[in-house]
Amino acid sequence: MANSDTPSAAEAAAQRLSELRRSLHDHAHRYYVLNDPVIADGEYDRLFQELLEIEARYPELISLDSPSHRVGGQPLAAFHPVRHKSPMLSLENVFTAGELGNFIARLRRYLKWEQELSFMVEPKLDGLAVELVYEKGVLASGSTRGDGLTGEDITAQLKTVRDIPLQLQTRQSQPFPLELQVRGEVFLSRKGFAELNRQRSEQGEPLFANTRNAAAGSLRQLDPTITARRPLHFFVYGVGNPESLEIASQEELLQELAEFGFPVNSLALLCTTEDAIQTHYSKLQELRTGFDYDMDGVVIKVNSFSLQERLGTTARAPRWAVAWKFPPSQATTRIEAVEFQIGRTGVITPVANLSPVNIDGVVVRKATLHNWDEIQRKDIRLHDTVLVQRAGDVIPEVVKVITEARNGEETVVDFPNLCPACNQPLLRKEGEAAVRCVNPNCGGQQVQRLIHFAGKSGMDFEGLGKKQVESLVSIGLLEDIADFFTLDATVLAQLDGWGERSANKVLAAIERRKRVGLARFLMALGIRHVGEVTAEALAARFGTLDALRCATLEQLLGVERIGAEVAASVHSFFQDPATSTLLERCETLGLRIMEEQTPIVQALLAHRVFLFTGTLESLPRNEAKQMVRAFGGQIASSLSRRVTDLVAGSNPGSKLAEAEKLGITIMTEKAFLRLLQEAEQHNNA
Ligand code: IVH
Repeated sequence: MANSDTPSAAEAAAQRLSELRRSLHDHAHRYYVLNDPVIADGEYDRLFQELLEIEARYPELISLDSPSHRVGGQPLAAFHPVRHKSPMLSLENVFTAGELGNFIARLRRYLKWEQELSFMVEPKLDGLAVELVYEKGVLASGSTRGDGLTGEDITAQLKTVRDIPLQLQTRQSQPFPLELQVRGEVFLSRKGFAELNRQRSEQGEPLFANTRNAAAGSLRQLDPTITARRPLHFFVYGVGNPESLEIASQEELLQELAEFGFPVNSLALLCTTEDAIQTHYSKLQELRTGFDYDMDGVVIKVNSFSLQERLGTTARAPRWAVAWKFPPSQATTRIEAVEFQIGRTGVITPVANLSPVNIDGVVVRKATLHNWDEIQRKDIRLHDTVLVQRAGDVIPEVVKVITEARNGEETVVDFPNLCPACNQPLLRKEGEAAVRCVNPNCGGQQVQRLIHFAGKSGMDFEGLGKKQVESLVSIGLLEDIADFFTLDATVLAQLDGWGERSANKVLAAIERRKRVGLARFLMALGIRHVGEVTAEALAARFGTLDALRCATLEQLLGVERIGAEVAASVHSFFQDPATSTLLERCETLGLRIMEEQTPIVQALLAHRVFLFTGTLESLPRNEAKQMVRAFGGQIASSLSRRVTDLVAGSNPGSKLAEAEKLGITIMTEKAFLRLLQEAEQHNNA
């Protein structure tokens, strides 16, 4: 017998496990899919820990849908082929509004249909298509698309993706289908992608070219614990066997899937005219740089299932759907010079100075060349004509050289041997792509650390940008991060280019941040390998700075999503006596690290919680919600003290008066639209 507990103890354990499973699934769904958690992260962790402990005692009780699968489990020896019960088809493409018109005209002819035709217009996510098979509501297997007929079994990997339900949400009325083949796209956020590549660059691993490759590379890991550490997401868009559900259209399907607990992209829109399709296409194209995920176009699907059936499919693609891709956010330009910048961890990054070029309305002047290996691999030379690409907030990068444009004037890029900041020899570790300055006293690195600390992804001291920090360092007012808290308004006001107003503004910004959330502070410290995701994981696990400072290496290794290298880096950072001295000085100067979590990148609507009531005239409510989220705001589903803004459409009902009583800001639809406009401008600035 596995253990000597009495049968009743085992029964109690089984009972408790089932409660914990249900509760953890529920909380995870609220957190990851609805963005509306009702318990603190620490509480969730405690429940999770309890589940792990019971499962360790009673391994026979581990169920297929246990949340513990989220953390990965044993590596596989190989990927096994899985045959899809119904083929996962591809899509035909159209490239212009004219071609879209032809597609619709063709449908009408084929169907002999002159009445209204409606279409679901959905964002086309740029990730990896997967199939998830649910047996009686429980995730039984998951696979890649493969060649459309046969894919690879990546069940263990897919179970680590938090957005994917391990069991469907309970439905009161009907039982779950015996089998449901759910299809959707697994993708990586741009932020997650940028951080992953940054880590890989530091560790000398080849970089992923784009979010899609990174998502594919993350899923095709034989060791699912690696997949578990990648910030993967999922959006559902279809099923392979719609006949198992009692629904008649794509629109209803998406609603049903959302009820089952799947994330459905809220930018999907039902359109009944060609014009409406075009407008939605243009709108998404315009908005797309503001989203944290790559969207490469829209998919336009005939809404009615009976019409879909009549249209049927070709061997390759359905006749009832088409993809309309966005033009790429790329442009060609010339490399005028290559400069070498030193980062806060000492890594030297080659940066191309470009002839200014407009991409998606933004003038691009610089592009990262990542590292020496990338320059060689892409054979980038000075004065080359290159293809440059930008995606959201990610730094523009050189995709490739247009070799046909070479005229013999191009010259090879020389990588420096000495640090551009401190002139000490640079070092390249065996097997690493990164070239570093290893001088612990390198002034260049320290300046970068200070810029980072004050900057947007650090403490976000408004008014203390790169230039100001550099100048304060050069006159000796700033040497380490504690010095920010010793700055004096009268001294600053005297400095060249400052004045009383900007001095007071900066000091007020620093003062406001003297109470700061742990995650933000960790991110600001610029510890090697600690990006946003890691900082949040550490803050969630340890709660306070003191707890983290005392953490043993084992405890750090036990944190979800944190690997050996990261754990070692965090551990040695806090073991360093210089760190202790610095942190103690910060605290003496009035800095207080708060337990509560604050979002790291100060989005315009951060800390604001929106509730909608009544009918919106100018956009569907789902879209409005999506926009709020895109700008960092949260959505509430009911009125509570948590709500900061109530958006009232027409016929708002009783919520209005209740909100007034609670002192919540009430906004008209017009005011709300103005706010979004501001947010957009802010984003583009
Ligand atoms: S429908 C039979 N909807 O695009 C219809 N596909 O060439 C097949 N994709 O890799 C797909 N977003 O994974 C559909 N909203 C969406 C999509 C979508 C992205 C991907 C899909 C596949 C490719 C189709």
